[in-house]
Amino acid sequence: PLCTSLPHLSLRQYQGFWFPDNWLPSIMTMQNHFKARPTDLILASYPKSGTTWLKALAFAVTTRTRYPLADHPLLSLNPHDCVLCVDELFADGHASKAEALPSPRLLATHTPYSVLPDSVTSAESECQIIYVCREAKDVAISGWHFGQNIPWLHVEEQHLLAENLKLFCQGLGPFGPIWDHILEYWRESQRRPNKVLFLKYEEMMEKPVENVKRLAEFVGCPFSEGEEREKVVEEIVQLCSLEKLKNLEVNKTGTLASTNIPNASFFRKGEVGDWRNHLDPEMARSVDEVCEQKLRGSGLTLGTIK
Ligand code: A3P
Repeated sequence: PLCTSLPHLSLRQYQGFWFPDNWLPSIMTMQNHFKARPTDLILASYPKSGTTWLKALAFAVTTRTRYPLADHPLLSLNPHDCVLCVDELFADGHASKAEALPSPRLLATHTPYSVLPDSVTSAESECQIIYVCREAKDVAISGWHFGQNIPWLHVEEQHLLAENLKLFCQGLGPFGPIWDHILEYWRESQRRPNKVLFLKYEEMMEKPVENVKRLAEFVGCPFSEGEEREKVVEEIVQLCSLEKLKNLEVNKTGTLASTNIPNASFFRKGEVGDWRNHLDPEMARSVDEVCEQKLRGSGLTLGTIK
């Protein structure tokens, strides 16, 4: 089925999730033709959950012996141009772009776990996944602002926020329902902790160094004692911080290579709990109630604050 209730974007339902109608053909091709390699690292997220940040951090960590931090690609390239989205690589209908990338590949996806190809999810598959999860109200607000900032997703009228949130609570958003998206990756991270690392945006904000170390250990390149002494983790955290990236010329003025989205639209406030500036108590409750109900019994709670 097709949903055209959102003012800015039509969504199509496929295997229990809502996909942007214009992305779905590429995602379906990816599902059928993407051949994961054992050395692949895939960064997964629901949109507006910290994808850009995770891309920057994972890229900086995994390439740290290749690039000096003082002259780093992230200083002149947007993180989305450093880590390509596998969902988009199949837009021309075949796998050649993904196959042309040299190993080890660092890729990203918004595709739900259950929709990923077998070559990624099967018991034999050795590739790894890092998922970043963010509290749902902040995701909704971040998505709302993102829509306002890019020309082809215009949602500027304020009354539409309430409308948009109602749909969000019905699971209707790009790659929604958000709770199913999060739960699928969460369950897999519990079942196969060597396969899926589950990170929370709020915990990364609170303890960035610790979480970057977890990331490095998970991918098999922990920081050495020498690196610890030289404070390499701290430098990576600094390089990938919102303040640093947001103020780079490339991110102030550039646009993404794959679309015409302004790089600046990926960097806003990065605040935990920014929903408080936008949602009244009833709106907040509507998101909390549905998320609590859906996550009940899973052992997972969203965010670190109410
Ligand atoms: P806000 O809109 O709440 O500020 P995504 O990258 O998945 O599209 O998510 C975008 C959100 O992550 C935005 O949140 C953005 O400001 C925040 N963000 C982007 N880069 C970040 C960084 N380096 N550190 C922390 N947050 C970042």
